[in-house]
Amino acid sequence: MFYIICGTNRPGSRSMEISELVKPYYEKNFKSVEVINLEDLNLNQLNNNSYGDGEKPKAVTEAIEKLNSAEGILVVCPEYNGSMPGALKYFIDFWSYPKTFEYRPVGFIGLGGAFGGLRPVEHLQQVFGYRNAFILPNRVFIQNVWNILKEGKITDQTVSDLLVEQSEKFYKFVSGLNEQKLSANTFGN
Ligand SMILES: Cc1cc2nc3c(=O)[nH]c(=O)nc-3n(C[C@H](O)[C@H](O)[C@H](O)COP(=O)(O)O)c2cc1C
Repeated sequence: MFYIICGTNRPGSRSMEISELVKPYYEKNFKSVEVINLEDLNLNQLNNNSYGDGEKPKAVTEAIEKLNSAEGILVVCPEYNGSMPGALKYFIDFWSYPKTFEYRPVGFIGLGGAFGGLRPVEHLQQVFGYRNAFILPNRVFIQNVWNILKEGKITDQTVSDLLVEQSEKFYKFVSGLNEQKLSANTFGN
C-alpha cells in the first residue's frame, strides 16, 4: 500500500485537497493508495505517556502500523511559521525507529506562500534523512497556493505537470529500490 499523508490537521485544509487531487496519479501505478488525514487521528489524545511503546489513540496506532509496511509515503506539507505544522512533527515523533523510517521511500509536496513550502519540505528532508529514509529527489513546491488551487483543481499547467511527473518518478524510484531489495519492505529478502 502506498500512503499519502496530509501534513496538517486543520479542518478544510488545502493540503487535504491536494492529497485527494494527486491520489489518482499514484493509483495509476501503485495497486492501492490511501490518504492519511491528520485530522482523523485524535492527536489531542496523545499525552506524555504516549511516546515509545506508551498507549496511543487507536487511530494513531493503526496509522503507524500502516506506515510500517508502506511501499512509499508522500507527505503533502503546508508551511506554518516557516516550518512544518506542529501536528505533523508531533505525529512523526510517535513513529517507530527504525521500522517506520529506515529505507522507506518518501517524497514531498510543499505548499505555502512565496516559497511554496520549500522550508517545511527541507526540514522534513532533514528529519527523514536523519532517520535513513530514501528521499525521492523530485519535490514539488506550490507557491501562493491560494492562487493556484481553485475548487479542488490546480489551475497552473506547469504545477499540474510537475505533480504528474513526480508520481511517475516516485513509482520508478520505488520499483528500482524493490528490484535491488533496498527498500524497507524488501531489504534483506
Ligand atoms: C498557522 C499558519 C501559519 C502559516 N505560516 C505561513 C508561513 O510561515 N509561510 C507561508 O508561506 N505561509 C504560511 N501560511 C499559509 C499556508 O501555508 C497556506 O495557507 C496553506 O494553504 C496552508 O495549508 P493548509 O490549507 O493545508 O492548512 C500559514 C498558515 C497557517 C494556518
